[in-house]
Amino acid sequence: MPEYTAPRGTRDILPSETPKWQYLESVFRDICALCDYKEIRTPTFEHTELFTRNLGETTDVVSKEMYTFISRGNKSLTLRPEGTAPVIRAYVQHNLGAGLPVNKLYYIGRSFRYERPQAGRYREHTQLGVEALGSADPAIDAEVISLAAHFFKTVGVKQFELQLNSIGCPECRPAYRKALVVFAEAKVDKLCATCATRYEQNPLRMLDCKVPECKALLVGAPKMSDHLCEDCSGHFAKVQGYLTKFGIDFILDPSLVRGFDYYTKTAFEFVSGELGAQNAIGGGGRYDNLVREVGGSETPGIGFGLGLDRLAMTLDLLGVELPVRDGITAFVAGLGEVGHEAAVELVRSLRMEGIPTDMDYTGRSLKAQMKVANKLKARYVVILGEDEIRAVVATVRDMKTSEQNSVPMMDLAKALKGA
Ligand code: HAM
Repeated sequence: MPEYTAPRGTRDILPSETPKWQYLESVFRDICALCDYKEIRTPTFEHTELFTRNLGETTDVVSKEMYTFISRGNKSLTLRPEGTAPVIRAYVQHNLGAGLPVNKLYYIGRSFRYERPQAGRYREHTQLGVEALGSADPAIDAEVISLAAHFFKTVGVKQFELQLNSIGCPECRPAYRKALVVFAEAKVDKLCATCATRYEQNPLRMLDCKVPECKALLVGAPKMSDHLCEDCSGHFAKVQGYLTKFGIDFILDPSLVRGFDYYTKTAFEFVSGELGAQNAIGGGGRYDNLVREVGGSETPGIGFGLGLDRLAMTLDLLGVELPVRDGITAFVAGLGEVGHEAAVELVRSLRMEGIPTDMDYTGRSLKAQMKVANKLKARYVVILGEDEIRAVVATVRDMKTSEQNSVPMMDLAKALKGA
């Protein structure tokens, strides 16, 4: 065991994996551009109150999972546990709503939660997210959901379950909460300690409990969908109608409440059958009061976050081969001091021509350099010895066919580019 290892719940994404991550991020960026979502980058930490006041005090994230610290300036700061509140803070701070009627934003960023680590659950994870601010139109709910579905399908997750629910609004939720409390009254002493508190403070959170006994006790609980006001049920019907028109399958899940208190109306989650317990590869929903709560004007919003770590895992489990660039075009092998000097110059000029090229910097023999070239998955090895230099040529070895040709120096870049 080395003296230092990455902290529990964190991981290094090694060079063998980064091309896959870069590919997934670039597909996400392309699809966001296609749907006209613009990138926003917010700080990794924020004032603690942004999260404590706006995510919900009784949520798992706020009550036990935040990385909070006191700065040298004696301020309480928190590593962002999720991406939505920071984006809304930036939206309000920079008055983005004044510029456009609808601001469609996306982000790629790390989030930090002090959770018990297990496969697919980390203390630092990466989310690909979007937030659409300024429209209450159910069509934008459908746009956001279909963007995620499009992304999953494009990268190779052909099968997933889209779970959908509406969790109502401040109009209709109080009556539902009451119905839930009445239902749970006789079961409170059998619920877990956290749910007993939830029962008192925020009964809807009981539906988000992962403890199997609580889940079992809440089977048959009243459904939010039976308590929606006219506005919410009309909205929900339209969202479903659009998804059906788009050919996006979904299942209605009345117990889906999501992990934050800011949600209103539409809530959704993408679940992959490939993963074990941590099977949510993405989730989101509408939050029509959050902008106002953060200090802005009345602005509806909807968005999602997709877990990149879980997505990469899912693709591995599915055996999906991503079209990632692997290897270099040319490895220049210099022989002896003179060959090495010539190689240094040639590598630079090939790179200026846009040809991915590398060389040896450790004084290895030709045989050893060939081995390195093989490991680097070089398509060609360009050999430069005294003879080649004198004749102003290079010996080019095709690593696929093992064929070797002498190529005049002036034709080399063209020959390699054509490869
Ligand atoms: P969330 O459901 O908490 O939502 O997280 C979104 C996704 O991030 C999850 O579906 C999961 O794939 C991934 N994720 C969450 N926690 C972990 C973890 N500990 N390890 C690995 N992956 C994880 C949000 O954060 C909301 N801000 C999403 C949203 C955006 N809602 C509206 N707009």
